[in-house]
Amino acid sequence: MRPLIRSIGDAGDGAHDAHPQFKVLATDQLRLGRGATADKARARLREAFTPSQPVSRISMFAGRKTVLTRLIRAIEDQQLHVVVYGERGIGKTSLLSILSQLADEAKYIVCYTSCGENSSFTEIFRNIAASIPLLFHADYAPTQTEIESGGTLADLLPPGDVTPHQLSDLFAKLSSTRVLVILDEFDRSPSGAFRRMIAELVKNLSDRSTRVQIVMAGVAGNLAELVEHIPSIRRNILGIQVPNMTSEEMDELIGLGSATCGLPYDAAAVELITHISCGLPYIASLLSQHAGIGALDRQSAVAERQDVANALELVVDETRQRLSDRSLRAIKRLQIDGEAGALEKLSDSALHHAGVIDLIGGDIDLANAVKTGLRSQLLEAIGDEVGERFRFVEEGVPVYLRMQSIDDVLKSGKAPTHAQSQ
Ligand SMILES: Nc1ncnc2c1ncn2[C@@H]1O[C@H](COP(=O)(O)OP(=O)(O)OP(=O)(O)O)[C@@H](O)[C@H]1O
Ligand SMILES: [Mg+2]
Repeated sequence: MRPLIRSIGDAGDGAHDAHPQFKVLATDQLRLGRGATADKARARLREAFTPSQPVSRISMFAGRKTVLTRLIRAIEDQQLHVVVYGERGIGKTSLLSILSQLADEAKYIVCYTSCGENSSFTEIFRNIAASIPLLFHADYAPTQTEIESGGTLADLLPPGDVTPHQLSDLFAKLSSTRVLVILDEFDRSPSGAFRRMIAELVKNLSDRSTRVQIVMAGVAGNLAELVEHIPSIRRNILGIQVPNMTSEEMDELIGLGSATCGLPYDAAAVELITHISCGLPYIASLLSQHAGIGALDRQSAVAERQDVANALELVVDETRQRLSDRSLRAIKRLQIDGEAGALEKLSDSALHHAGVIDLIGGDIDLANAVKTGLRSQLLEAIGDEVGERFRFVEEGVPVYLRMQSIDDVLKSGKAPTHAQSQ
């Protein structure tokens, strides 16, 4: 192995110049040699835009002041349980990560859990109880040996499965602290018994005004959708939707990334990223990263509009590969049949309304587009409200449609249509 590593590192002999190379060593050190400054910028770019990871540093967190203020008020002033919901990639986990840090600074005990299909109520809440020191149990004096030996509330739970009732009894004894339980990816949790137990816990905790609050987060078009199996708790919780980012928030997102990597993005580039991403930070981050890499590749000191256009082409390709053959064929067929306008209308509506196409406004064109979407099986009705609310069967489709149509427009040199310029 060693000679191979050495030969790659010795790029100076010219033999490897013809091949693409890794620019940064796995040890995070930059490789010496030509283009070291650009390589440094590239390494910084990876930190500046992280489309595949939630933002966890406050210094990299853009906008969201209104929604964060509402969340803090709900928790602190109203002492409510909260459900945070919104489209995939809208920034829920990033928001919760910043909320966790702010709560931690305010001396809350914060317990973050990402739910999955196999989430077990007992396992999650045993872990949570294990992170709360006995010191905060009203019946224990600070000098007791159990406290000195690092005991936690989990020590007081009986063996076997834990019930919501036992937990609320235990949490009712908390004093001198507050606990924030964050259940992220709640939409991925098993919908039956697990959700019903969470609902029962929320109810018991509310009834007894305990010092434990739960924040659930997940992908959903509205609150009812996320808690559809547990309508009994709708009165005990506050639903907060994470909205699409405004163009000012997008400016801030790109600005923070640009300042971190030291690569300026000119106004036309920022405008195009903002326009394409339609308020979705995931798309803005992805395009900014690709555009930045493109600018560095052509040794430019500034990321320009054309870099974003090139990035878009790449991202459209990447997104296409993630979609099912079924959706791609349906899209193609509709485009051949001259229904591109209907597709655009549907994707636009979904992207502006957390994935939901709502016919309540009486838009005839949209209603016709929905019929087309249903016929091609790209759309499905949501819940029981037959004939009113719809969504794309495959969640990546609306963003793909928008990016593909803007990509087509850019390639043909035409001005964007009215729907696209929104
Ligand atoms: N406020 C923000 N400032 C900067 N970047 C952000 C912000 N919010 C989200 N992002 C970017 O958008 C991407 C998606 O964010 P995040 O993972 O938080 O979304 P999500 O709603 O939790 O997604 P999912 O539904 O897939 O769980 C992240 O990669 C992050 O880089
Ligand atoms: Mg998330």
